[in-house]
Amino acid sequence: MITKVSKIDLQSLQEAKNLIESEQLVAFPTETVYGLGALATSERAIKSVYEVKGRPSDNPLIVHVHKDYDISTLVYISENDYSQKIANAFLPGPLTMVYKSKGVVAPSLSCGLDTLAIRIPKSEGAQKFLKFVNQPIAAPSANISKHISPVTAEHVYQDFNGKIPLILDGGKCDGGIESTVLDVTGDIPVILRKGLITAEMIREVVGACVYAGENAQTSLKSPGMKYKHYSPNCETAIFERNESEEAIRLYDQLKAEGKRVIFLCDDEMSKKIGKRKFLALGSTDIEMASNLYDLLHQGEKYEVIITFKLLVDSELMLSVNNRFSKAFFKDENK
Ligand code: TXA
Ligand code: MG
Repeated sequence: MITKVSKIDLQSLQEAKNLIESEQLVAFPTETVYGLGALATSERAIKSVYEVKGRPSDNPLIVHVHKDYDISTLVYISENDYSQKIANAFLPGPLTMVYKSKGVVAPSLSCGLDTLAIRIPKSEGAQKFLKFVNQPIAAPSANISKHISPVTAEHVYQDFNGKIPLILDGGKCDGGIESTVLDVTGDIPVILRKGLITAEMIREVVGACVYAGENAQTSLKSPGMKYKHYSPNCETAIFERNESEEAIRLYDQLKAEGKRVIFLCDDEMSKKIGKRKFLALGSTDIEMASNLYDLLHQGEKYEVIITFKLLVDSELMLSVNNRFSKAFFKDENK
């Protein structure tokens, strides 16, 4: 199969619509990462998402719709519910909300759960695609399962060249990490996957919000969170922030052995490694969220990435550190 990469225009949108309607897959940009889109009501299309990605069959997909789509056709929502306030405050945006499902999507998409996760992405490219197709679109991140999530069309191409017919190219995703997944089926909202929208931000709108696992009643997790994710295809080494000398020794030794090696550092740590080559994460939480996946993709072109633990000094840094840890700590998510 030839994989086309097309800028988003009338012609590529028409092509995308035809492909989706004939139960094929189309990758598209969002403000977080690229998605691998499939018609949510088609069992055949959903099956091929799992197959092409190599995704475990017990990890449900999220459904994407445009901002004017009536989601009450897919899930149960009550008008006075706190979920309405949250939706009004943050959508369209990098927040996925889990509701009770009406069961109209393909059964294998929900993996037997009676809930359905809905996302209304904000980026212009995503809205154009979803509006043009005007159907609920299931979309996991457009990477092979366990690999780094894609933030450019090129990243999608590297994983899926020859395996999907079309990638809509909307440039680089600026958010950088996946949406927050929020369960709104209970008395208070529960964050199942950390992301760009934090508990603090949700609390400001509806008073309450907790992270799953914070107390016994909220130990439910997003099924996907138990899997290893976001791993670069190269060797990695991680050091404490006070171990720059040890890290430098390793870098110099590997270099002397003729290995291609690079540091991945935030601004503070980059000042401690002399003139050695590094990928710059930046200094603020927003910068680091936006840069992380792109830099992991750049880093895996080397043989070894050496990095330092992050300083978690904000709620957004909790989300960034969640992805960072999964890329660098081998024993996470077992
Ligand atoms: O930013 C994003 O959310 C991207 C873009 C493409 O929209 N998508 C994405 O999809 O990250 P994926 O499949 O890589 O991650 C979806 C997460 C998984 O952790 C999955 O377990 C969880 O959402 N999820 C899906 N349906 C769920 C449900 N009904 N209940 C709880 N968690 C659910
Ligand atoms: Mg993913």
